[in-house]
Amino acid sequence: MRKNNMTIQQLFEEGIKVLEEGNIQNPMLDTQLLLSYALDVDKVYIYTHRDRIIEGETVDNFLSLLNKRKTGYPLQYILGDQEFMGLNFKVGEGVLVPRPDTETLVEWIIEVVKSKEKFNKNTINILDIGTGSGAITLSLAYYLENARIYSVDISEKAHKIAKVNTKKLGLESRVTLLKGNLFEPIKELNKDIKFDIIVSNPPYIPSDDIDTLQKEVSKYEPRLALDGGADGLDFYRKIILGSPEYLKNKGVLGFEIGYNQGSDLKRLLEEIEGFNNIRIRKDLAGKERAVIANWEKSN
Ligand SMILES: C[S@@+](CC[C@H](N)C(=O)[O-])C[C@H]1O[C@@H](n2cnc3c(N)ncnc32)[C@H](O)[C@@H]1O
Repeated sequence: MRKNNMTIQQLFEEGIKVLEEGNIQNPMLDTQLLLSYALDVDKVYIYTHRDRIIEGETVDNFLSLLNKRKTGYPLQYILGDQEFMGLNFKVGEGVLVPRPDTETLVEWIIEVVKSKEKFNKNTINILDIGTGSGAITLSLAYYLENARIYSVDISEKAHKIAKVNTKKLGLESRVTLLKGNLFEPIKELNKDIKFDIIVSNPPYIPSDDIDTLQKEVSKYEPRLALDGGADGLDFYRKIILGSPEYLKNKGVLGFEIGYNQGSDLKRLLEEIEGFNNIRIRKDLAGKERAVIANWEKSN
């Protein structure tokens, strides 16, 4: 049914009410963002034009966005983008929304590269496993101008969105996006390629925990991006086992981890001879969030 005209103030109040009914975490902020999206204005405009009358068709459009969001449908899927490392990434259904937590790993890798003369002076090869939107791949490429990045994802949707983001950021010349399972597309390149750094934010949620997550994640984000097997560690095991074949001597392997997976990761890395100097870093919330290990070949 076609709604009547309403003022911005009335729409704002309606938005907060609807999102509160849906137990959405930040009803005020989400309303502000959805309203500015629906009206195609910036956020400040909402506050400075409260008495402006909005006509029925736009009101309808805003209310249908609100009702979608009320079910837990991710705000970023509606708005179509998400900021990460100061860059703007297109996102959409089928692709994990980049998380601020993941900046911990990216910032750490950038630090490692900048602190090592060997990495700093030459062109370096980086492999990212699990591209998603391209958050890690493209921010490393953006901030490390001497990096050549290969990035693999098994998901067609992620592959497509990452392609759009690569183009948008103008990074095509230094980024190669590959579709497939873990190291397989690298093997298929049929080159003797080795990497200075292998990095991954793999799926790491234990299968049975997925349904307990907030509905934005459990209902709408791709299971393929979340499910790390029975104990959440399946992908870490596979990547740790596969990496030695592709890491250069004195290379680095880095992962994002779940807040309670630090000791598991340390153990898994210690099981493989050649990984050393294993260190864990916490995120801004004080939770263990990333692990980095050095790789040194003994022969
Ligand atoms: C947690 S998401 C990380 C996405 C992105 N790197 C980020 O940090 O926002 C994990 C990604 O791994 C991909 N993935 C899952 N299984 C895979 C596999 N066997 N080989 C390659 N990628 C895989 C998923 O499609 C998903 O995009």
